[in-house]
Amino acid sequence: MKDFKTLAVEAAHQAGKLLRENFRQGHSFALKSGFRDLVTEFDRRAEEIIVSLIQKEFPQHSILTEEGSVRPTDTAPYQWIIDPIDGTTNFAHGFPFFAVSIGLYSQDEPVVGVVYNPIHDELFVAEAGQGAWLNGQPIRVSQVETLHESLVMTGFPYDERLIPKHLAWWERFAIEAQTLRRMGSSALALAYLAAGRADGYWEIDLKPWDMAAAALLVREAGGTVTDLRGNKLDLYSGEVLATNGKIHTQMIQILQGERE
Ligand code: IPD
Ligand code: CA
Ligand code: CA
Repeated sequence: MKDFKTLAVEAAHQAGKLLRENFRQGHSFALKSGFRDLVTEFDRRAEEIIVSLIQKEFPQHSILTEEGSVRPTDTAPYQWIIDPIDGTTNFAHGFPFFAVSIGLYSQDEPVVGVVYNPIHDELFVAEAGQGAWLNGQPIRVSQVETLHESLVMTGFPYDERLIPKHLAWWERFAIEAQTLRRMGSSALALAYLAAGRADGYWEIDLKPWDMAAAALLVREAGGTVTDLRGNKLDLYSGEVLATNGKIHTQMIQILQGERE
């Protein structure tokens, strides 16, 4: 029997190969909840590859996926949480920042997290209590101490009713941080943070599969992941604040309107 990490890496590689081979091939997309919520044929095909590998090895495990090709159960000892393409809009536009995201949880605690960008061939892996790696090399979060020295990332909510609130935060961080980035893939943004390429990241209106795998990457790389108030991360709350730990309080102050 394969171990969990080996299986997650194999699934990410196989799905990633499909995405790499079909990137910029002029494929079409369909809309889901609105005009900025896309799905392509490859979201579904990548998901099928991952799900069938897991089901073959661990038929008793629960699987929660974005495209819903399988129904999760709530009695299983382990739950896989999968986003076959995090950053579908980037994929559909030929913009090379998207990732396969595979997280494994047991009793709501992360066990393994894998995020793979097949275009850059960057494989981020974390194992609870064991560490985090990029292409086999250990990674750590940055050591930056202040927002003035920080690269901060975010994403914009699909729900336009949330955009004014988000833009107010964007304005505050544009003033306080050294620079801001919007990546288009929450899993990859968190993985970059884990690798020390960014110092802070917040977002609202997310789904569990957008952050399940990558939250463990940040933690295992020495960073902090919470909700926007600094409380325990709830994958189902939609919100996440992740930092190198050192700028966490400064970001909470801005997000809570305590620092004008
Ligand atoms: C999206 C990406 C994006 C985030 C959206 C997500 P998808 O996932 O992670 O960065 O801002 O909220 O839905 O739809 O490409 O899997
Ligand atoms: Ca996603
Ligand atoms: Ca997706």
